[in-house]
Amino acid sequence: MSETASPDPELFDKIVNLSKRRGFVFQSAEIYGGFRSTYDYGPLGVLLLRNVKDAWWRSMVQERHDVVGLDASILSPPQVWQASGHLANFSDPLVDCTNCNARHRLDKLDDPNVCPTCGSEGTFTEAREFNLMFKTHAGPVTETAAEVYLRPETAQGMFINFANVLNTSRKRPPFGIAQIGKSFRNEITPGNFVFRTREFEQMEMEFFVPPAESQEWYEYWCQTRMDWYLDLGMDPAKIKLRAHDDDELSHYSSGTSDVEYLFPWGWDELEGIANRGDFDLTQHATHSGEKLDFFDQANNERYVPHVIEPAAGATRTAMAFLMDAYDEEVVNDDTRTVLRLDHRLAPYKIAVLPLSKKDTLTPTAMEVFDSLKRRWMVDYDETQSIGKRYARQDEVGTPYCVTVDFDTLDDRAVTVRERDTREQDRVSLDQLEGYLAERLS
Ligand code: GAP
Repeated sequence: MSETASPDPELFDKIVNLSKRRGFVFQSAEIYGGFRSTYDYGPLGVLLLRNVKDAWWRSMVQERHDVVGLDASILSPPQVWQASGHLANFSDPLVDCTNCNARHRLDKLDDPNVCPTCGSEGTFTEAREFNLMFKTHAGPVTETAAEVYLRPETAQGMFINFANVLNTSRKRPPFGIAQIGKSFRNEITPGNFVFRTREFEQMEMEFFVPPAESQEWYEYWCQTRMDWYLDLGMDPAKIKLRAHDDDELSHYSSGTSDVEYLFPWGWDELEGIANRGDFDLTQHATHSGEKLDFFDQANNERYVPHVIEPAAGATRTAMAFLMDAYDEEVVNDDTRTVLRLDHRLAPYKIAVLPLSKKDTLTPTAMEVFDSLKRRWMVDYDETQSIGKRYARQDEVGTPYCVTVDFDTLDDRAVTVRERDTREQDRVSLDQLEGYLAERLS
């Protein structure tokens, strides 16, 4: 790992601009002035986000014999959040400035006595705990009995389904339950684009292990999760694992580490990996009255499994990959922007570009598009000069451009241009799929 990596503050605006200009991420409800801290994923963003989630699912579920998937409900009754501790503890301390009425999170202030908005000293009210969960009502009555919550994390869905999964999947510890889905937190200080929002997506896995094996599995998951980011091309100089200090640990956790990325504003969290002990299953067993344990027939012992939890943010991670891939290089006195995304994450894998819009080329270009679209996400673009179209594809990270030109009509071959090197190969149409498959595998 390089010791010299430092944050690049200018990258932030470049990514926000690129996201909007090229259709990765839009401000939500923009035509109504924008809805603060919520974002919509555009045609390219939805593909990038989906590819990040697919890569996670592939490595955490598909390629493992010991992890199964789940898709639990977003709405849940208060009992779940009573047991998990979220109703009592999932809150931030808020202070109001009596001089300028600004509201701040006490734990995020540089000086707890000075208001950063107006600079006045000693003007804060007493801190009040503000619960971050969104509450709503199920059905037409708005009485307390009908209160439900939008989940602030996907994790509890895995804990409350522990027995269901154990009994139906024939898994036994060590085994995991994985889930990708939306979570909601009424964040007091959302910000940094899609880094901290009130509605976001998580990719979480609860790995249930015999208590004696928990430390070993914790270390295993810390390493495995770091390897996932590196395997997908993240710059090793910009990613690190940071173990929590004792005073940062939850009372039930015997170890937690964060995967941190060097964002334009400095190091910040992408994922937390926690050794949660038997806290969650014990809490839900106590509150529900159901047994949430495992009988190990081989050793004739019953135990409550301990849990190792790798908890990542999908939306946050997609943005980190976008930032990590962003590059500018000078080519023939022009600056070319190129997203050097791993092939697996690139929104489009291939762009089919007829050299001219003339009708003579369209049928062959469409034939090429049709031959590739079943296997890959392929863009088709026939507007502007070929140079401009290459630049557009570089800017959104498309690994291969396939150009259909007038010679194609005679030699049944196309020009394939690679994004990073800009090298070009002439490839015959009957070899094209194999050529691309070899390189995109
Ligand atoms: N079940 C444990 C849990 O939810 P967390 O550290 O609060 O742990 C896990 O969340 C991950 O979810 C974070 O590392 C982050 O990537 C993502 N995340 C959390 N709050 C977020 C927010 N407001 N906006 C975007 N992503 C968020």
